[in-house]
Amino acid sequence: MNGEKPNDYPVEFENVLARAVSRRSFIKAGTAVGATFYLGGVSSAVSAATRTEQPPSYTTLMGFNNIATSTADTITLPEGYSYELLVQWGDPILKDAPAFSVANTAADQLGQFGDNTDGMSMFHLPTATGVDENRAVFAVNSEYINREFMHTHKGENMSADDVKKEIYAHGVNIFEVERKNGKWQVVKDGRLNRRLHGDALDFELTGPVRGSDLVKTAADSSGTQVRGTLNNCGNGETPWGTYLTCEENFNGYFGAPEGTEMTDEQKAYGISTEGFGYNWWPTEERFNVAKHPNEPNRFGWVVEIDPMNPDSKALKRTAMGRFKHENAALTINKDGHAVAYMGDDERGEFIYKFVSKDKYIEGNRAHNMTLLEEGTLYAAKFNDDGTGEWLELTHGKNGLTAENGFPSQDYVLVYARIAARYLGATTMDRPEWVACHPSSPMVFCTLTNNRHRGVREEHPINAVNPRMNNNFGQIVRWMPMNRDHSSTKFAWDLYVLAGNPTVFEDEYAGSDNISKDNMFNSPDGLAFDADGRMWIQTDGNYSNQGDFAGHGNNQMLCADPVTGHIRRFLVGPQGCEVTGIAFSKDQRTAFVGIQHPTEGWPNTAKDGAPRSAVIAITKDDGGIIGA
Ligand code: FEO
Ligand code: CA
Ligand code: CA
Repeated sequence: MNGEKPNDYPVEFENVLARAVSRRSFIKAGTAVGATFYLGGVSSAVSAATRTEQPPSYTTLMGFNNIATSTADTITLPEGYSYELLVQWGDPILKDAPAFSVANTAADQLGQFGDNTDGMSMFHLPTATGVDENRAVFAVNSEYINREFMHTHKGENMSADDVKKEIYAHGVNIFEVERKNGKWQVVKDGRLNRRLHGDALDFELTGPVRGSDLVKTAADSSGTQVRGTLNNCGNGETPWGTYLTCEENFNGYFGAPEGTEMTDEQKAYGISTEGFGYNWWPTEERFNVAKHPNEPNRFGWVVEIDPMNPDSKALKRTAMGRFKHENAALTINKDGHAVAYMGDDERGEFIYKFVSKDKYIEGNRAHNMTLLEEGTLYAAKFNDDGTGEWLELTHGKNGLTAENGFPSQDYVLVYARIAARYLGATTMDRPEWVACHPSSPMVFCTLTNNRHRGVREEHPINAVNPRMNNNFGQIVRWMPMNRDHSSTKFAWDLYVLAGNPTVFEDEYAGSDNISKDNMFNSPDGLAFDADGRMWIQTDGNYSNQGDFAGHGNNQMLCADPVTGHIRRFLVGPQGCEVTGIAFSKDQRTAFVGIQHPTEGWPNTAKDGAPRSAVIAITKDDGGIIGA
């Protein structure tokens, strides 16, 4: 956009939907999806704003050429773009932390960047008149660990210190960065630097579940103070300058002696005796659910962190519900309520919405810091006619009563999945990231894939999840009724069905905005830049064979949210997942996470240890990324 910000898209949603429908050949392919699904009832669901101007065309939104797919063990970018490494697993980010070595101890890891980078946000440091364009504090998630690469013994002889090292390699990395001579660098002794890890005593439960019997443990009889954050996947950020880190597959860290019976509630969240096989519980007893059945209830939350105050507590926001949180896309509604959209990443789980009780007040940070403490949670129901509704998860409403097995609001929030299922929310194809358009009320969510769809009875095919054995994934888009995020009604359509037109001719070829040149599978990361370009990151099958022939390595694409045009912008190295994205305020640097690469890239230590990394992408002419 050459520095000019496009205006709001004052597009009648009916027109958006009509265009979306007209470009889709899959509608003709005899699937469950039909044009009437999209158009029927939409005009009554969405009372659109008056259309006064054309949306910008895709050629103005994207100023680079689509790049080819690749299987090379490197990062590929469009001509005129370059990247540098910003930080990798094991790099020191706290003062006096040692340099990376596979032999690093738990104490070493405490001062170093964690493993498996994921969601991230950049907060520019304030100045007397605004913000410093060249100084910022970064918050970056470390989602999980790769045990086989984390220790010199490949994980076969775990000591108590090794277990601690793994726990410390999870969480959130907060560190200052500075741009010098056009290059961003970590400021190792930054005043704001800190590591919030899986064992840190910095976490508090807030909201309706604070103090509930469901979260009291032997170590915390108050049910208010939590040790650690785990499986920090995607992120969110608030207009009042806080970071949201989202706890995803927390269940895997817990275990119990063989034969321990799990409750229905524990089963609904995947708690099992073996977990992911980390086997932390014999040395770290709180992960033994036979002894500490409430400990897992203290994970699976959205956590709000103030990156500007290194002494502040990180606040687990229980009003936003407990599930396997992917990310949280927050927007301020036109009536002032803070609204967060969130996905629960599991086959057949749901999309949620939180609406704050109080309203945002510009400039009143202390007040705004309380907005996520109280509010109303909803789960999404996508009707086959292109309309949808938000089902309220409030005790006493919609049958969420004691006689139906929901004794209280803390139960509804701790077991939000059970409540949403009871209300008939739509089981989705693994909801990953949600993203809100920066200047219109359009919201998008990646549905990454679902090999059970249409195969298992509880995951029936429907209009929003239209394919059997969905290998490829899709992105759904919705618009709230009256452009009002507080409304319980919305209209939706499918923005894209990923697929492979070189292998299939039916709906598995993908929607009409997919071609042999821009195809991909398993959309996951999703974010808008300030100009309204939508960035899609993939975490899928990179075999480049069979159904995935020609897809190459995982990648990042850029999309026009209105016209549907999609271009490939980045291809990652072998084996990696591309996840996490942030932009400098001037949009002249894009930071992108390369999670779990293989040992060939970037291999700066030359020791064969694969190291997840954040890269900084710039345009050689200093221009805006993507423009
Ligand atoms: Fe952490 Fe669903 O990806
Ligand atoms: Ca993800
Ligand atoms: Ca994924």
